[in-house]
Amino acid sequence: MLQLPNRPRRLRSSPVLRAMLRETTLRPEQLILPLFVSEKITTPAPITSMPGVFQLPLDCVVAEACAAVEAGVKAFLIFGIPQKKDDRATGAHAGDGIVQRAVRLLKKELPECLIITDVCLCEFMSHGHCGIVDKSQRVENDSSVELLVKTAVSHARAGADIVAPSDMMDGRIGAIREALDEAGFSNTPIMSYAAKFCSAFYGPFRNAAESAPQFGDRRTYQMDPANAEEALREVGLDLDQGADIVMVKPGLPYLDIVRRVKEEFRVPTAVYNVSGEFAAIKAAAQNGWLDERAAVMEMMTAFRRAGADLIITYWAKDVARWLKE
Ligand code: PBG
Repeated sequence: MLQLPNRPRRLRSSPVLRAMLRETTLRPEQLILPLFVSEKITTPAPITSMPGVFQLPLDCVVAEACAAVEAGVKAFLIFGIPQKKDDRATGAHAGDGIVQRAVRLLKKELPECLIITDVCLCEFMSHGHCGIVDKSQRVENDSSVELLVKTAVSHARAGADIVAPSDMMDGRIGAIREALDEAGFSNTPIMSYAAKFCSAFYGPFRNAAESAPQFGDRRTYQMDPANAEEALREVGLDLDQGADIVMVKPGLPYLDIVRRVKEEFRVPTAVYNVSGEFAAIKAAAQNGWLDERAAVMEMMTAFRRAGADLIITYWAKDVARWLKE
């Protein structure tokens, strides 16, 4: 017999003991479910690359949110797909835009829910970029910020509980904070997509949101995947400008960033478990190559263990249900 002073396996011998000593916990309150609302359809349209996820017409949004609420999810992130796009993203900041209408409806029918809006222009721009494009096809910063500010304020006016700018223009958080305050929304928090990387994992989302750039890519505004120090600087800047919650995106390939952001700043930190992460696991599960539920719960645990307080995930409803079983 080995004479071992420490036998870590002693504490793994029963489910009760393992549960008692589990360091990382997950609650349904920590989950946020993205919803895609489209002005172009009258019945839910499945997104092929994201099995189980649909574009929803306005009159199906409440039912979908209700189903999630029943499972235990109370927070939603709203994306809009407009009927018409142009090169000034008019639909993004229109009082009767698709996001604004969805927010009004959800707040009326489910007032106890938390409605977060994605503040971006790409879904509303004919060219699919997250800002105004100049004659030489460059994405302008400051003029784009003006439109983002208008968009965020219109979301708050519609009743959004939190606005979440995802565009990665410089200075947008400060500008949005100031405008929200002036418009009487000083209590509306900002969840900033602070460290958003230029990632291949957004592919399925761009189909879902019909927001793929028609030329070029997003490398001049989204971050280089190789940069961790810069991610900390980005988060610092957004906090200085008034961000209340900071986000790291994507999730799984960037857990080191989540950990460093949480350790460095000690502020509420969200992680976005993006469409490509979802599609990859779904595809493997559909082939019988891995156990979806076990793999997803392991991912969720990893996000929490890395330091995320909140998880934005297309699995929110399933995870909430699994947590109850
Ligand atoms: C809009 C936006 C994107 C995502 C969230 N907001 C796409 C992009 O930046 O191209 C991606 C979400 C996902 O992949 O699940 N700018």
